[in-house]
Amino acid sequence: MLRMKAVVYDKYGPPHVLHVKDVEKPVPLDNELLIKVRAAEVTKADCEMRSFNFQVKWFWLPLRLTLGLLKPKKKILGAYFAGEVESVGKDVTRFKAGDQVFGATKLRMGAHGEYVCLPDSYTLCAKPYNMSFEEAAAVPLGGLNALHFLNKANIQAGDKVLVNGAGGSIGTFGVQIAKSMGAEVTAVDTSIKEDMLRQIGVDHFYDYRKEDFTKKGKAYDVIFSMVAHTSFSKCIRALNPNGRYLMANPRISDMLRSLLTSILTDKKAIFAFAGEKQEELLALKEMIEAGRIKPPIDKIYSFEQAAEAHQRVETEQRRGMVVISTDSIEPIGQSQRQA
Ligand SMILES: NC(=O)c1ccc[n+]([C@@H]2O[C@H](COP(=O)([O-])OP(=O)(O)OC[C@H]3O[C@@H](n4cnc5c(N)ncnc54)[C@H](OP(=O)(O)O)[C@@H]3O)[C@@H](O)[C@H]2O)c1
Repeated sequence: MLRMKAVVYDKYGPPHVLHVKDVEKPVPLDNELLIKVRAAEVTKADCEMRSFNFQVKWFWLPLRLTLGLLKPKKKILGAYFAGEVESVGKDVTRFKAGDQVFGATKLRMGAHGEYVCLPDSYTLCAKPYNMSFEEAAAVPLGGLNALHFLNKANIQAGDKVLVNGAGGSIGTFGVQIAKSMGAEVTAVDTSIKEDMLRQIGVDHFYDYRKEDFTKKGKAYDVIFSMVAHTSFSKCIRALNPNGRYLMANPRISDMLRSLLTSILTDKKAIFAFAGEKQEELLALKEMIEAGRIKPPIDKIYSFEQAAEAHQRVETEQRRGMVVISTDSIEPIGQSQRQA
């Protein structure tokens, strides 16, 4: 049985529950690829799963049953990565050994391991030629989710778009994709992220700790909010006629109110769970290769520094994406021969 290194957590808790451990190296089935992970994003969702502290509290029980009642069922986190195909099962036609790819492991997680096995039907495609593995790993979460929501908003050139929670993984792509659609973009986040957000194209900025964007007397065609507990009624009031309110983190009451709003008014409130589709990843790759979008990288950590990477994601200091790289790991063949 071959072994590999992985960042593992055996119990829910603070970042120090994470440790690097030797685990069984996965073996691809006939329809799967074995991918050597070169870099993976550490996301807010990874931190929420590790600590079992989710922003949306109504989801506690179903999530706990899914993730593990007493301890985590899947011990290796990470869902967004870039890497190289090491081998493929006999039924795989889309990829071959040596291909450089990026994508999402969906609910399988496991991208914070040295290797991951994924069916070739998963959301995977060739890594953009003009990006490092670290940059490419920082694309799928934010890019796929932002694109999914913004495609629902039918943005026209000149539309005024406000992104609430603009400085995070999804928000930074929301800003860039809305800009590339020709929108005038207002970002809401903390001022520590203002420079980074201006660099990726933001036209106007509000610090949510100092100002309430819904009280500035301005109206928007689209409000895209990543923030749980955003006031539904204030956002609807801050929309122009025919405006669209996109919610990435809705409460149950927001979901119910969104149906009434869409039926009874000329505004639309939209909630969705992004499917992270293959065609959306291909669209992102094209946008990246055309130079239209790029992930702002806050910091790249080594595999062994995974706990620090989680800590960084949980602080309010990061300005862009946090990535862990597997480059520091000794090649597997070497460590096994020595063992
Ligand atoms: N519906 C879906 O399909 C879907 C898919 C993926 C994720 N999500 C959800 O979407 C949310 C965002 O994901 P993400 O990965 O982009 O998270 P993230 O990287 O943590 O980004 C959230 C951003 O919002 C900022 N923020 C916090 N409170 C705020 C407030 N009151 N007003 C304005 N900005 C505020 C955060 O700043 P600080 O860093 O200072 O806190 C951070 O920059 C997550 O909660 C996740 O669960 C939904």
